[in-house]
Amino acid sequence: MSAPQFMRAVRITGHGGPEVLEAAEVAVPAPRAGEVLVQVSAVALNNTDLWTREGAYGRPGDPEARSGWRGPVDFPRIQGADVAGRVVDVGTGVESGLVGRRVVVDPAIYDSEGPDANPVGLMGSERDGGYAEYVTAPVERVHDVTRSPLTDDQLAALPTAYGTALGMIERGRLRKGETALVSGASGGVGLALVQIARARGARVVAISSGSKLDAVREAGAHGVVDRAGDVAGQLRTAAPEGIDVALDVVAGELVGEGLPLLREGGRWVIAGALGGYGVTFDVRRLYLHNAQVIGSAMHTPTHFGLLMDLARRAEVQPVVAAAFPLEQAARAQVELSRRGHVGKIVMHP
Ligand SMILES: NC(=O)c1ccc[n+]([C@@H]2O[C@H](COP(=O)([O-])OP(=O)(O)OC[C@H]3O[C@@H](n4cnc5c(N)ncnc54)[C@H](OP(=O)(O)O)[C@@H]3O)[C@@H](O)[C@H]2O)c1
Repeated sequence: MSAPQFMRAVRITGHGGPEVLEAAEVAVPAPRAGEVLVQVSAVALNNTDLWTREGAYGRPGDPEARSGWRGPVDFPRIQGADVAGRVVDVGTGVESGLVGRRVVVDPAIYDSEGPDANPVGLMGSERDGGYAEYVTAPVERVHDVTRSPLTDDQLAALPTAYGTALGMIERGRLRKGETALVSGASGGVGLALVQIARARGARVVAISSGSKLDAVREAGAHGVVDRAGDVAGQLRTAAPEGIDVALDVVAGELVGEGLPLLREGGRWVIAGALGGYGVTFDVRRLYLHNAQVIGSAMHTPTHFGLLMDLARRAEVQPVVAAAFPLEQAARAQVELSRRGHVGKIVMHP
């Protein structure tokens, strides 16, 4: 297999609205030593695509500054963290037997080599991503899923949303038989949390809203709570025994309301702040009950390995809400920003 010289890609040349996404004919990247070249069959969208494009991350001490999540973005940048595809070429030092394999790319750039390394960068933000026909990746970030029963679209839905979800579940030490609370449950990360927590044998209570409640129940939640109502009251009814692990992407007022519902030694894991990042809670509810509040950014290499095992056994079934051709990247991102969907939006180069 060999790649052509040029490819179609969609890139951003600065921060701004959907109009800064420009289609371009660019050189196919050559895999460097230790890298592989992947032909992208599906790329999934994430909120980080919107915020990186907008520069909506702020900077320490300047929350309104236009910035990527790790600081300035090196433009032009091809977005797209979540890639499934096939290896078509390898750089020096990489075994050529990988060519032809179906793979998922771990999009994280880590701070060190070890299995518990921290993610400090992301494909599509700190290096070029999958809004393109081809992308390069370090060979140790490429996972062979040739035999997985999941479709390429489903595989592309995994890295960021399911990786983040698995990171939260591992850091929260969720065990079989425990009760898990999931917020933002109809979203990409939320639905993944519901599915993985359920697959682990936890009892899952999920917070969602309106017409999405049914989809969340279908994804595996044992109980659902409508965030439009009295959330704490509904939670007390849905989990009278209390909550062992909260898996929270909403934060805001939910933390103060929910902490008193944790059981002894409970864990409140936060990976997002859709409901607000200024949080107030009664600290007595923490120390008198040996509870923990845990921050969670993405996944470690170990977590990603566990995720790929789930993918190979099809123990999670990502929901694909919509698919767009790559040329319609701007439309796909607008659709994502409307938050009307349940599951992941993917694109095909
Ligand atoms: N820490 C990390 O490594 C990491 C990685 C990926 C994502 N994240 C963060 O996790 C969060 C969720 O990401 P996602 O991709 O799952 O988002 P998403 O697909 O947009 O879904 C978020 C869901 O949260 C609910 N929601 C939206 N606004 C809300 C609000 N103001 N209050 C309460 N609930 C609200 C909605 O569900 P209902 O209407 O059904 O309630 C929505 O479907 C984001 O904040 C994102 O930045 C963090």
